[in-house]
Amino acid sequence: MSSERNIQKYRGKVFREDREVLNGHRSAVFWFTGLSGSGKSTIAHEVEKQLFDRSMRAYVFDGDNVRHGLCGDLSFSPAARTENIRRIAEVSKLFTENGTICMCAFISPLEKYRQMAREIVGDADFYEIFITCPLEVCEERDVKGYYKLAREGKIKNYTGISASYEAPEAPDLVVDTDKETLEESVAKVSGFILEKVGFQAVQIAQKKNSPK
Ligand code: ADX
Repeated sequence: MSSERNIQKYRGKVFREDREVLNGHRSAVFWFTGLSGSGKSTIAHEVEKQLFDRSMRAYVFDGDNVRHGLCGDLSFSPAARTENIRRIAEVSKLFTENGTICMCAFISPLEKYRQMAREIVGDADFYEIFITCPLEVCEERDVKGYYKLAREGKIKNYTGISASYEAPEAPDLVVDTDKETLEESVAKVSGFILEKVGFQAVQIAQKKNSPK
């Protein structure tokens, strides 16, 4: 398609690896999936603050925010959810090139959506974090009051009520917000992220500094 439109990629002079060395950490995408009310956004924003306080470059993409702007034109039909996830995956891939640790908090209810995100971002940069919590508990929490509206039929295609959620089969990390405290979950996720972005950054820096 790009060749039909005469578009080529322009390669700049500052590369991802340079940005990673400057930042002192690797960039990657941490994809949070789970039911509405499971705690994805809460955990992601707490972790973002912790990483920021360590002078790390991290950014949260969150369904409730992104759907006001970038994805403001999208509904919750299967096609619109696919497009929602596709756009976020493409944007987070750009942010990864920019050296940023991306935390993407989207219900992303079906395996095929998450698989698409993984393919767009690239397997080596993609980590799936399953924020699990029983539907009854999410419904009990009903932070936004949407479960009640969904039960009353006032919101259509509501994940868990009138639209399905497929739990990931082999997530890289599982966080159970029904059993763990918020502090425990945040510590688990930030520990996981630090492990994944810290080690390779050191390797990159060592490679750059070692004599040719
Ligand atoms: S996704 O399925 O496309 O990944 P996304 O994470 O962007 O969903 O948005 C989910 C948020 O939108 C929910 O937390 C909820 O606040 C709101 N919402 C509104 N309508 C629906 C719906 N039908 N299903 C799920 N979430 C909805």
